[in-house]
Amino acid sequence: MLDFLSERIKRIEYPIRKYSPLALELEAKGEKILYLNIGDPLKYDFRPPEYLVEYACEVMRENKNFYSNSQGIKELREAIAYKEKTWNGVEIPPKNIYVTIGVSEAINLVYMTLLNEGDEVLIPDPSYPLYIGYADVYGAKKVFYKMDEENGWNPDTDDIRKKISNKTKLIVVNNPNNPTGSLYSEKALREVLDIAAEHKIPVVSDEIYDAIVYEGTFKSLASIAPDDVMVIGLNGFSKTYLVTGWRLGYIYLKGPEKSVEAIGKSILKGQMARLSATTPLQYALARALREKPRHLADLRRKLDERRRFMVKRLNEIDGIRVVAEPRAAFYVFPRIEVGIDDEEFTKRLLIEEKVFVVYGSGFGPNGKNHIRLVFLPPVEVMEEALDRIERFIKMLKS
Ligand SMILES: Cc1ncc(COP(=O)(O)O)c(C=O)c1O
Repeated sequence: MLDFLSERIKRIEYPIRKYSPLALELEAKGEKILYLNIGDPLKYDFRPPEYLVEYACEVMRENKNFYSNSQGIKELREAIAYKEKTWNGVEIPPKNIYVTIGVSEAINLVYMTLLNEGDEVLIPDPSYPLYIGYADVYGAKKVFYKMDEENGWNPDTDDIRKKISNKTKLIVVNNPNNPTGSLYSEKALREVLDIAAEHKIPVVSDEIYDAIVYEGTFKSLASIAPDDVMVIGLNGFSKTYLVTGWRLGYIYLKGPEKSVEAIGKSILKGQMARLSATTPLQYALARALREKPRHLADLRRKLDERRRFMVKRLNEIDGIRVVAEPRAAFYVFPRIEVGIDDEEFTKRLLIEEKVFVVYGSGFGPNGKNHIRLVFLPPVEVMEEALDRIERFIKMLKS
């Protein structure tokens, strides 16, 4: 039965959207769902900076509607080089920057380029699910390393060290972090770099939330990496420019010249096979990145208010505990003690209270007994959702 389906497609899962069909079914029956599952600010009261939308209209009228080159237009790669230098202190020549269809495609391209079947990839536990899903697609072995909840969800670098083998091909870092909202300490980043240098293993650093930080200081991994460590930086515009639907991101390469060249050439081969990323929106962003990103202060202020409300209200609920408060991004990853497992909790919460959150074990084994919520909606919406969660837990415990 169904033997026409590939083994590969059976292996991929994306837990953040697993129950979306169920939510749609409930909506079709007239139910109103409170969505706290998706990291998309545009679903709530956020809009991209007005000038960016203007540029998009402008370039489309200028008929920049063609296929662009596969690596990404020069203007945008130059603008990204400027952004990385001024925001994150990372100096990358535009020739080592690759524009992608979101960071999602970047993850796919990097895995496609570097992982053979049976190779091992060290993934944070919990992790953004695509790092898990694409490992399964490419037949690589996922080796989870512990993120330490008691230490602000920082990576347990001793655990990374223990799990390195002669098959380890890649170490994944995601800072600021999804799903935990953590900001890595510089000490942890330096330890990861030491391990990478010692074993000559490239490090992927996904920094898509680089400017969404409320407490502490963000350090880009590439900004402190020694020259002999191969850093594959991933970043994008979905979150900081509030254009999730534009699907634009980038990869940059920094490290030993020969590795940079070889990896770059191979990534470009993968990019050629999908022609190009959206051309007009690349031009729009290239123009926008010349402006000062004034919208960010407002974005952080608004989100910080919501973060504080979310954490405070969650901690008032008996059965939920935020052990490590989020310091960045827009997720909180509390522990639940409710007598049922996290996936059943999530499913029943959706059916019985019409509140949509994500089950923690979808982000890796260490996510068990946790849930992920976004603090993107206005306070009134979060208030309603959290009242319903409280009622649901009381019912479970009675
Ligand atoms: C850590 C992380 N990486 C990558 C992505 C994918 O982003 P994009 O919209 O650029 O594909 C997300 C989206 O939520 C994310 O949280």
